[in-house]
Amino acid sequence: MITIAVIHGPNLNLLGTREPGVYGSTSLKEINHTLEQLAESLGVNVLCQQSNHEGILVDWLHQAGASYSGVLINAGAYTHTSVAIRDAIAAIQIPVVEVHLSNIHKREEFRHYSYLAPVVIGQICGFGPDSYLLGLRGIIQHLQQHN
Ligand code: DQA
Repeated sequence: MITIAVIHGPNLNLLGTREPGVYGSTSLKEINHTLEQLAESLGVNVLCQQSNHEGILVDWLHQAGASYSGVLINAGAYTHTSVAIRDAIAAIQIPVVEVHLSNIHKREEFRHYSYLAPVVIGQICGFGPDSYLLGLRGIIQHLQQHN
């Protein structure tokens, strides 16, 4: 069965109370629950994980590359800083989709550049928690078309 690793990066554990004007009031637990429900309805599995530590995110990408079908990642602020996460995505052989709750392109200039964008199959941003659901649908469709 298709299994997608959902990887949440730094500060996303605080969703619900973190800058609600930017990120909304939905908690990470609720986002994961909705993703699990959508996955079930699509007949796939998701494994949701969150870490504030760059190296752990790199380790999870390597593990996903060895064991799973694809990755949905919101790398948070590491999106705009991390060559290590970009290189980990480039190193693994499975498709990766980048998601963001906010539209990073209409925020501060330092958020406009994503180190990940050139090595993922696509980026979805600006739809709040629905960015994750759209991302999951996108990666499943990609996998079904390419397998
Ligand atoms: C974010 C956007 C990033 O710029 C920010 O650092 C985050 C969250 C988003 O989901 O909108 O932590 O990835």
